[in-house]
Amino acid sequence: MTTHWSEYWKLGHVTSFGTDYKENYTGQLKDLWSDIFSQFSTGFKVLDVATGNGALPLLIQDYFSKLSIDGEVKGVDYADINMAPLTSSHHNKNVVIELLGNTPAESLPFPDCEFDTVISQFGIEYSDLIISMPEVLRVLKDGGIFHAVIHHQKSVVICYNSKLLSFLQHPEIERVVFLLKMMAHDMGEMTDRQDLIRIKSCAKCEKSRIEINDLLSKLAVYDEESLSESGVLKYINDFFINGLFWSVEKKLEYLVFVSEQISVYRQRLTELVAASMSVERIDSLREVLRQNAVITFSVEEVVNNTGDILGWYFSFSKHSF
Ligand SMILES: C[S@@+](CC[C@H](N)C(=O)[O-])C[C@H]1O[C@@H](n2cnc3c(N)ncnc32)[C@H](O)[C@@H]1O
Repeated sequence: MTTHWSEYWKLGHVTSFGTDYKENYTGQLKDLWSDIFSQFSTGFKVLDVATGNGALPLLIQDYFSKLSIDGEVKGVDYADINMAPLTSSHHNKNVVIELLGNTPAESLPFPDCEFDTVISQFGIEYSDLIISMPEVLRVLKDGGIFHAVIHHQKSVVICYNSKLLSFLQHPEIERVVFLLKMMAHDMGEMTDRQDLIRIKSCAKCEKSRIEINDLLSKLAVYDEESLSESGVLKYINDFFINGLFWSVEKKLEYLVFVSEQISVYRQRLTELVAASMSVERIDSLREVLRQNAVITFSVEEVVNNTGDILGWYFSFSKHSF
């Protein structure tokens, strides 16, 4: 796993959907989890695998805030996570939360049979399921239950992000950034209106500017929606509007930052799309579980009011012998 999740969680997001589920999950996903939480009884011990900044633990705390049921939720994540959303939550503290970063699902630092429930949302599928599933079973009590919502290869999220990923792979994007770097050098130091007049008659600058416009038109023909969603236009606007009078050095630093952001975005989307589960991968997961003595395994699609697929919901209980 790369460090991009650590960078993402550092920004203080509560969910992995950034501004879409800003406060926490809502709608069908919240309802699905509320049904699961309603099965918890007092003294519950829950583990959330790949917790991020603790969206599910916070949902649990919220769910029980007006009920006299106590419990404990531990959350683990491979990334270096941020405790800010947790410390700023004003919920009733009858549910105690503890989050651990730098903790992969493949090696859970808990004794056997520690939890009565293990949960995960858009998380466990990023791990190596052949190793993490036996780990989940190890830390579950006999008769304990695992519930997960995982990425579905045909969900709205995956379809949207696959399209964005294909767009970000067009070589024209790298070429635009390269031309902006050339322009930063060719424009030289810019301090006032005289410099604006000067660069208008700079043949090299004009050539780069025309090529950038052509490349952007081409990218818009490929996929106009992704061009605006990808942030590429915003970076270019920032360079020409806010950054016009920056020093050459600052312009170049900004363009290094832009290249890094685009590359991290590509990595994040590549991992996301790779983690999504097709029907065939669900079958292999069923096989992994069968080999670990899990006989009853339930799986269904989570669909919203308009018929869009949001993910898979799957659950099983640890067999008690
Ligand atoms: C899409 S986010 C979901 C986070 C959280 N469950 C939520 O709903 O907001 C996926 C998370 O999986 C974590 N992750 C990836 N591989 C992992 C692994 N092998 N073990 C534990 N966490 C992992 C990432 O660090 C990231 O925080």
